[in-house]
Amino acid sequence: MSENLIHNLFKKRKSAIPIWFLRQAGRHIPEYYEIRKKEHDFVQFCLNKNLIIESTKLPLKYYNLDAAIVFSDILMIPWAIGRNLRFLKDFGPILDPMIPGETKIIKNISIASKLEPLKDSISSLRLELPKTTSLIGFAGAPWTLACYMVEGKGSKDFAKTRKALWSENKWFMELIDTLIYYISEKLEMQAKAGADVLMIFDTWAHMIPSNFFNECAINPTTKIVRILRSRDVFAPIIGFPFKAGSSIVKYSFESEVDCLALDWTVDLSWANSFINKDIVIQGNLDPVSLIPKDSVYLQNNVLSILEKMSDRRFIFNVGHGLTPDCKIENVKKVIDIVKNYNR
Ligand code: CP3
Repeated sequence: MSENLIHNLFKKRKSAIPIWFLRQAGRHIPEYYEIRKKEHDFVQFCLNKNLIIESTKLPLKYYNLDAAIVFSDILMIPWAIGRNLRFLKDFGPILDPMIPGETKIIKNISIASKLEPLKDSISSLRLELPKTTSLIGFAGAPWTLACYMVEGKGSKDFAKTRKALWSENKWFMELIDTLIYYISEKLEMQAKAGADVLMIFDTWAHMIPSNFFNECAINPTTKIVRILRSRDVFAPIIGFPFKAGSSIVKYSFESEVDCLALDWTVDLSWANSFINKDIVIQGNLDPVSLIPKDSVYLQNNVLSILEKMSDRRFIFNVGHGLTPDCKIENVKKVIDIVKNYNR
């Protein structure tokens, strides 16, 4: 009988190992560029119901996956609250930077109404996808969104954001609190529309000074989880404090997420000893290992991850998003290994 492996895992039923890939819906599949051409502006693309649906379903055409992640972007929250967001080709996102202490932090905007096409696409996708496929809704974590909003773009060290944290702390923490509110609203909307798993991406968690890790990463996540539970959202929540090193141990015990996603730098034997044993683990294949053709390492590495995690409730995934040059053949090979290992 076919079953939803991810649901089984969260219900603590013994089941085969589920598999999906971070950033699976996109740039490594040539057909994505055909869909992408239909809307020049990426923000408008993320607001087009049919294009969201088409790109979310695209990887399922190629691969036997246990989940689909809805096509959107973490920066749609800053966009929805009025930050001027553009995506430049070969550069990435640009926003008008907030001036710490000066830029007014806007509250009381309805994210759900600004992102209605996302909600509608999730409702349709949930009806269209097989019940055995989980539908994952997501949001960026408060710290990571604040990084882009203050810095105005990606950065190697997010020094402007860290400076705001030290010098305009009251303003900065008000921004974090406001984002907690909006992120909860976006996740609630996605769950109520039909997303059955939620994921919180804290891509820049490794930029947080360690003395602020509780205030900027763990506590905001706990607050989001509690807000969602108080609003009757019971979908499992995956937290992803990217490259946050040993701080992920505390995060695994205190954030109240149901699953911790591990980046590719985490040693799984170490994780087995120190990460909260009551939660599910997801990860952590290096996405770059999917680039070289006929790599002699890929198979053994996948098997070694599976063996190390054999006593844990575990979702196979990559430790960060698939890159545009990752090979479809390699992704298929990894899925085959994981699915055969399950038998
Ligand atoms: O496959 C999927 O998961 C699709 C949905 C998705 C996108 N972005 C689409 C996208 C998801 C889950 C994201 C999350 C996201 N966006 C994160 C967190 C995950 C991570 O990778 O750490 C971050 C930091 C962003 C911000 C962002 N959006 C950047 C830095 C960029 C430019 C560089 C890049 O990764 O392409 C984007 C644009 C973006 N988001 C694209 C896609 C498919 C490429 C835009 C295009 O097609 O023109």
